[in-house]
Amino acid sequence: MEIDRRAFIASLGGTAAVSLMESEAKADALEHWMEEQLDEQVAANQGQREKFPTVAEIEAQIETRNYRRGAGSLFVSGRGNVKKLTPMPKNPTLKDFFELRFAPANHVLQSATRAMKTGMSEEVILACLLHDCVLNLIKPDHGWWGAQLFEPYIPEKSTFAIRYHQTLRFYPDSDAGYEYPDQYFRIFGEDYKPPAHIEATYKMLKNHKWYMEPRLVTVNDLYAFDPNAKVSIDPFTDIIGRHFKQPKEGLGNDNSPSAHMWRTLANPDQPL
Ligand SMILES: [Fe+2]
Ligand SMILES: [Fe+2]
Repeated sequence: MEIDRRAFIASLGGTAAVSLMESEAKADALEHWMEEQLDEQVAANQGQREKFPTVAEIEAQIETRNYRRGAGSLFVSGRGNVKKLTPMPKNPTLKDFFELRFAPANHVLQSATRAMKTGMSEEVILACLLHDCVLNLIKPDHGWWGAQLFEPYIPEKSTFAIRYHQTLRFYPDSDAGYEYPDQYFRIFGEDYKPPAHIEATYKMLKNHKWYMEPRLVTVNDLYAFDPNAKVSIDPFTDIIGRHFKQPKEGLGNDNSPSAHMWRTLANPDQPL
């Protein structure tokens, strides 16, 4: 154990007091001090080190719920009953969906804000802004669902980044500034191994010329969970204007390959 000499001497009343002590008394005091420090350290370490659940423990929780964990946030209330949703305007835009269906959208707005501050490309900033929006619809395989939702409207690189950020979240890359998140020990279990399709996708991505596109989404993802951050969609108006092909009929009314997904987001109370 490392001894903080100054703290130890101070605990005995300072150098003057220590100089008056017999050497045996000093040795006793030191031993006592070290024991106390050790106890404190153990207590602190126990406090810091969160105990993460195992995969089996997480699986045991399934039958304690009346919903599945993969249900989109629009379909399940965190607390109490769901609320009546404000109807969408006639020709809804991406901004309308942000305000009326994805709100508060703090996490995606924070990640895009960070990407903008750190000077990333507009395709990456847009991908950060959109990367988790589909979680309002569905959660499993959200990278693929999210890419499909936005594909008809955004640059290919942004779609690529959205599709594959989900995979790269499982694989650290310290050169890029991305570590495996504690949050994943919490939600997947400490002994979780990603399924075969994720492993295969990672192998493909490692040698892909666009590897850094989804990787940069994961880097911004990691630092976008600040409960006190104040964020808004306004700083992204120009990027959306330049890169998001807003259909004039409105999202959901344009017959694109993902129009039905936008309609489901607009009307999640439809019974069929
Ligand atoms: Fe994500
Ligand atoms: Fe995210």
